[in-house]
Amino acid sequence: MRAVEIASPGGPEVLRLCQRPTPVPGHGEIVIKLAYAGVNRPDVLQRAGAYAPPPGASTLPGLEGAGHVAAVGPGVAGWAEGDALCALLPGGGYAEYAVCPAAHALPVPRGTSLRDAACLPETAFTVWSNVVMRGRLRAGERFLVHGGSSGIGTMAIQVARALGARVFATAGSPEKCAACEALGATAINYRDADFGSVLRGQGGANLILDMVGGSYIDRNIKALADEGRLVNIAFLQGPKAEVNFSQIMLRRLTLTGSTLRPQSDAAKAEIARALRTHLWPLIEAGAVRVVHDSEFPLAEAALAHARMESGAHIGKIVLKVG
Ligand SMILES: NC(=O)c1ccc[n+]([C@@H]2O[C@H](COP(=O)([O-])OP(=O)(O)OC[C@H]3O[C@@H](n4cnc5c(N)ncnc54)[C@H](OP(=O)(O)O)[C@@H]3O)[C@@H](O)[C@H]2O)c1
Repeated sequence: MRAVEIASPGGPEVLRLCQRPTPVPGHGEIVIKLAYAGVNRPDVLQRAGAYAPPPGASTLPGLEGAGHVAAVGPGVAGWAEGDALCALLPGGGYAEYAVCPAAHALPVPRGTSLRDAACLPETAFTVWSNVVMRGRLRAGERFLVHGGSSGIGTMAIQVARALGARVFATAGSPEKCAACEALGATAINYRDADFGSVLRGQGGANLILDMVGGSYIDRNIKALADEGRLVNIAFLQGPKAEVNFSQIMLRRLTLTGSTLRPQSDAAKAEIARALRTHLWPLIEAGAVRVVHDSEFPLAEAALAHARMESGAHIGKIVLKVG
């Protein structure tokens, strides 16, 4: 099959077309003929050599995609050859065929194109597990997400709104702020305003979803309301900070976080079940949708990565595979 591999760690130019054997499904697995594959920031980190695939996963980049079932392994129930689906992949999405546990696949939500469905799994699994399952967001709470115009941010804003939260989002330009507002968030341009002052002026954030880290770690803690929760899913600005931990005790705060990829197959299957029950109906009702930035052919994956690293994108970047 045709695929795109990382020739060696480096810039976007190290992504190059190659031929790889078509995967064969093992017990409990399916092989998907991909029509589209989503591009995510972790793919960029993997390409740069900063995010190694877990043991046993494909060395090809690509954490999500949509297409049709091409082969079903032993022990799989509920999927048959030809079914349309989207799936969270352990890797290997930048290819014509990808293999994954059948329990990590979901039907294409009614009314959603295959292209948009390919952009759902990585953000949906990440946002639902961190905002709802880990962050315990409830209706009426104040929720702050940083990087509001990112793939993750655009999903988080919509999920939190659909759950009845008041949503605040930071972004770095007027265009990105307008995109966050269009999704129902109060946008804060972090170049002009201090998100901590804005949130404290509203009584503090009950939950913050952060991917920035660095100087934001202490500022996030100070922006939380009593009993507030901070969930970190990345540290784009670095993982270290000097923090006054007495705040955590005095205001009963929770600092937590997670990464999706190294979690067990069973944990991912549990998230998939929650998505199917709770999030898929919101997508089918039109309350949550994919914010699409741009599409590139598989052979031009390097351009897709350059677009992501330019920071100009709003929402999701997708590769057309089929
Ligand atoms: N833990 C997990 O399981 C998990 C899963 C998926 C993704 N992630 C992480 O979630 C984040 C968002 O992923 P994505 O795919 O949605 O990526 P993305 O669209 O590229 O989003 C990155 C966002 O971060 C903001 N940002 C702030 N400081 C930044 C910095 N120093 N460098 C680059 N961007 C910065 C950018 O917005 P502004 O221009 O407005 O600053 C941008 O919107 C990434 O950090 C990714 O690694 C974590």
